[in-house]
Amino acid sequence: MQIVPLDAGLGAEVREVDLDKPISAAMFEALRAAWQTHLVLVFRDQRLTDPALIRFAEGFGTIEPPGPNPYGGPLHKTHPELNVISNIKEAGKPIGNLGDGEAVWHADMTYTDVPPLGAILYAIELPAVGGDTHFANMYRAYEALPAALKEQLSSLRAIHDASHNSAGILRRGYEPVTDVTKTPGAVHPLVRTNAATGKRCLFLGRRPRSYVPGLDVDKSDALLDELWRRAVQPEFTYIHRWRIGDVLMWDNLSVLHRRDAFDPGTRRLLHRAQIGGTQTIS
Ligand code: SIN
Repeated sequence: MQIVPLDAGLGAEVREVDLDKPISAAMFEALRAAWQTHLVLVFRDQRLTDPALIRFAEGFGTIEPPGPNPYGGPLHKTHPELNVISNIKEAGKPIGNLGDGEAVWHADMTYTDVPPLGAILYAIELPAVGGDTHFANMYRAYEALPAALKEQLSSLRAIHDASHNSAGILRRGYEPVTDVTKTPGAVHPLVRTNAATGKRCLFLGRRPRSYVPGLDVDKSDALLDELWRRAVQPEFTYIHRWRIGDVLMWDNLSVLHRRDAFDPGTRRLLHRAQIGGTQTIS
């Protein structure tokens, strides 16, 4: 197995590994170390069954079922612990989440008290163009902040909106938010410290409907807008142009991601496993 850093703000490609075959404990250990260092790992040219995707994800923790989807019921009928990311409709009904529009910058399910550690996405069908996925490195974003801003953030927290998904769709069971001070969702520190390494990163979740308790709404908006502008600068990012057979995994606690829109007349289908979190954010 070879780990080749990407020429980008984060990420590495892992070569010479077949994820459909059993993976040894030593290999998992090497992958965990590479994941900790590079935050996004890219595996090309894989042919994965769903059970193999589940087995691979279980090497990094406990699989956590997807959050509530806008259509109700699990999307993957045989393996409800997997999520389906797709714009495909069957008999007029979406078979997956997120459609074909842009999915805004976000980390997954940070509206929960113990957000997922990471996610693994496997590409099965893709449009010829569009639907690229962007990743941003929140360690580098934090390091680059001015000292006074770091100091200001050290005591602040933010609400992470639970009501809408990253495609802007209202989740089942939620009302539209008219006052951000009442946004439903977990409240986390704006800066997270990695318990294993002591390194700090920005922890922003998603911008829409976020709010910093204790600040006036206009001050909160101004601060969040500034943090988001700084966080997703091109030098901190990697843009993944998908090929069928790609498997991508990302560290959800230190990486933001977003997805470009694509032609609604084309098909895009990915299966996704989510690795559950183990502790609250501090
Ligand atoms: C996601 O946000 O989990 C999906 C990303 C993608 O569709 O590429």
